[in-house]
Amino acid sequence: MTDATNDMTGVIEADRAHIWHHLIQHKPFETIDPRIIVEGKGIKVWDAKGKEHIDGVSGGVWTVNVGYGRESIAKAVYEQLVKLNYFAGSAGSIPGANFAKRLIEKMPGMTRVYYSNSGSEANEKVYKMVRQIAHRHHGGKKYKILYRDRDYHGTTITALSSAGQPQRAMQYGPFTPGFVEVPHCLEYRKQWDVENYGERAADAIEEVILREGPDTVGAIVLEPVTAGGGVIVPPEGYWERVGEICRKYNVLLHIDEVVCGVGRTGTWFGYQNYGIKPDFVTMAKGVASGYAAIACTVTTEAIFDQFKDDPSDPMSYFRDISTFGGCTAGPAAALENMRIIEDEGLLENTIVMGERMRANLRALQDKHRVIGDVRGAGLFCGAELVADRVTKEAADEKKVAAVVTDCMAQGVIIGMTNRSLNGLNNTLCFSPALIATADNIDHITDAVDRALIKVFN
Ligand SMILES: Cc1ncc(COP(=O)(O)O)c(C=O)c1O
Repeated sequence: MTDATNDMTGVIEADRAHIWHHLIQHKPFETIDPRIIVEGKGIKVWDAKGKEHIDGVSGGVWTVNVGYGRESIAKAVYEQLVKLNYFAGSAGSIPGANFAKRLIEKMPGMTRVYYSNSGSEANEKVYKMVRQIAHRHHGGKKYKILYRDRDYHGTTITALSSAGQPQRAMQYGPFTPGFVEVPHCLEYRKQWDVENYGERAADAIEEVILREGPDTVGAIVLEPVTAGGGVIVPPEGYWERVGEICRKYNVLLHIDEVVCGVGRTGTWFGYQNYGIKPDFVTMAKGVASGYAAIACTVTTEAIFDQFKDDPSDPMSYFRDISTFGGCTAGPAAALENMRIIEDEGLLENTIVMGERMRANLRALQDKHRVIGDVRGAGLFCGAELVADRVTKEAADEKKVAAVVTDCMAQGVIIGMTNRSLNGLNNTLCFSPALIATADNIDHITDAVDRALIKVFN
């Protein structure tokens, strides 16, 4: 299947000597080899030693939604690159226009697409739009942006200014002013003892708006399902109340679909599970499944109009550029990615396989007391590990990591909340490609079963 059996020593040594990997401590690489992934096909990848793995996390960070080795995407990208690889985004392109049209067809109420190339960047575009609207239309007020505890919106200093994950932000300050945190909505780790938890958690947003002053708050950014903060599906009633609060205080609603976007939860977008009407939607990872870098900031015509109402003022339009937002490979790949999801019925598969995965995880919960909570939507699942089900004391992070390592040794790649929350990096994460079969799902959860037996007994 793979050419990984060829001599990879030179590659490993070049990597060890020169690559600064993402989000990992490098000291161990002085004695062990860095992991190098060589090839992928469907839901499987092969490493430099030729070892086969089932990828339960779509490229590590919920990205390769349609699976590896898609020749039709590679061909679409190739054909586009030889025709026109790039022109700055002040001009249009054929795949750019065509993908925007197809995307907007999936997003009733939204009309405009701004291209860039990472989730962080897509989110920063919104922050800049909100700030510019504040200056142009609210006399400099309404500049504050609310974000939620446990959510993540990217890696740049300003994206980290809106991070509800202290371990991602720690030591990178000082941060951009004007970002204010609201409480998380994870009912398993209750902050209020009430029946209607979803509404109560949303009311906490209203409390922050009133404390800060509604005339100072311009927008709120929320993940539809919190990803790296522990796979948190907001409780019933939450989104309806959030919508009411935003309308009441004229606060723009920014939904960060960087993880959920383009199929992960079994709908095109996570927010579409809840009947929300966003003002901004950002997306990146699954848009082209990692076949090319692309991110989109999508808005309504009402937002867009505010940037063209005074053509006589040279400062009135959105003075932003993303050089690589003009790459045509991204939208060319995204068009084919979307076609595959439609033609292969991958949204439907995601719903069915996601239910299977949670059912399997719940069966494991009956067997292993260390699983305190199982949650998720579509093929986006989490299992929170606890030392004690009654107190909900988090399981030792090293043991959670040992479960991930043991699965890896079994040839199954799963994830965990990683350098996100103090004392709460204890959720195992699962997000296989949307093509996953019942056998794949069972294979992944069987490996978790064996790993839990080994690590916790
Ligand atoms: C919800 C969410 N938003 C934004 C980002 C940032 O995306 P990127 O790494 O492409 O900048 C991430 C990355 O994991 C994410 O999970």
